[in-house]
Amino acid sequence: MSLTEHRRVFAKGRARGAALAVAAAALVFAALAASGALAVGYAIAGFVIVAAAAWFGARGGEKAGAALQAPAPAPRADDPLPALVAGLADPVVAVGRDGRVLAFNEPAQALAPALRQGEPVALALRMPELTEAVVRAFTAAAPQRFQYSERVPVDRWFEAVAIPVEHAPPALAKGRTEPGKPDLVVLSFRDLTPLRRVEEMRADFVANASHELRTPLAALSGFIETLQGPARDDAKARERFLAIMQEQARRMARLIDDLLSLSRIELNAHRRPDTAVDLVPIVRQVIDALQMLARDRGVTVNVEAADALWVLGDRDELVRVLENLVENALKYGATGKRVDMTAVSASVDGHDEAQMIVRDYGPGIAPEHLPRLTERFYRVDVRESRAQGGTGLGLALVKHILNRHRGRLTIESTPGAGATFVVHLPLLDTPSSR
Ligand SMILES: Nc1ncnc2c1ncn2[C@@H]1O[C@H](COP(=O)(O)OP(=O)(O)OP(=O)(O)O)[C@@H](O)[C@H]1O
Ligand SMILES: [Mg+2]
Repeated sequence: MSLTEHRRVFAKGRARGAALAVAAAALVFAALAASGALAVGYAIAGFVIVAAAAWFGARGGEKAGAALQAPAPAPRADDPLPALVAGLADPVVAVGRDGRVLAFNEPAQALAPALRQGEPVALALRMPELTEAVVRAFTAAAPQRFQYSERVPVDRWFEAVAIPVEHAPPALAKGRTEPGKPDLVVLSFRDLTPLRRVEEMRADFVANASHELRTPLAALSGFIETLQGPARDDAKARERFLAIMQEQARRMARLIDDLLSLSRIELNAHRRPDTAVDLVPIVRQVIDALQMLARDRGVTVNVEAADALWVLGDRDELVRVLENLVENALKYGATGKRVDMTAVSASVDGHDEAQMIVRDYGPGIAPEHLPRLTERFYRVDVRESRAQGGTGLGLALVKHILNRHRGRLTIESTPGAGATFVVHLPLLDTPSSR
């Protein structure tokens, strides 16, 4: 239906309403005059006033209605708009002058499943900001930008922009454009959630890092004051305090080392190591190095390894991965009294991989913690980790190192029965096959 036809229908409706009002007024005034309640002269004058008001009202309404309600055309076969909108990657909805949806694409449908062509956009996207932006884009004929967030089912943030399009393509514009007025508003949406998450992570990281540094620093300052003051001449206390201070200084140094390692590994994340490395000697070296700790904790370490497991890797980084996993098993799983270290090859989805499996029989880890263990500074029990000298960066380092090696870490645990950490790395057939 063309705009002129729309207006004609709209005007016809108004005129019919006015005619009915005039007829009703004629009846009422005639009855009043007949019953003698009103003089005939007054009845005629009253009727004329009501009729005139109805006539002017109908005309004025027609004009106002036409200005505010230029209706959206029904989609036409030669209308390029739906195809154009469908070809855009971001969620996009085209809205007509009457606030009804002209076209939308699949990403928009995923964002607002209630979107229907020809229905008011406000029904599918129930946000006052959005309705306001669309109206303002039409009236001001200028783009309107706004942000909003959703809480259900998960927190998400969006930026939307309502862009008025003044000249629709000729095929569409025929008979309905009004010079100087937008024909439609294109609403497009951008998901800001990943950006927000990164921002939050950055802020959390800075807060965590400074907190972790401040704790040993506060201890150091406290002991320095004590040694300068009350314990100045107490040789025994001095010995004890200096030992604690040394331990705290080491902890700070380790934290800084770990942070620097993390950022270095992240910087090189895109560069896969290209040296062939055998994992088996690494396993033996790490187990030997941690024998003291194992003895200290009363844990027996059983090692089972293939003859050789060649992968492309950075030797020092792989040592670091295994060191942290075995150290964790010895520190947090000591009550199990036993740790099994296995290094084998396996075929997963048709690909050969090397697996280094560290299994302990300690308290294990509750399932809600598992997905978060590789986050920086994440610890199940902060106090226990600190008491063990941990900074909570070990598994974050493991994850980043393995990413760089195109490998991955999987963790399984049954609370009360221990935990299993598995390092998966793509296997090289022989060192010469690289
Ligand atoms: N084998 C395990 N059994 C039970 N809990 C574990 C085990 N391994 C890790 N965890 C939990 O995961 C947390 C994170 O480990 P991660 O290695 O990242 O940090 P950390 O050991 O506390 O510190 P760092 O490795 O820097 O010394 C630990 O604090 C501990 O709560
Ligand atoms: Mg650790």
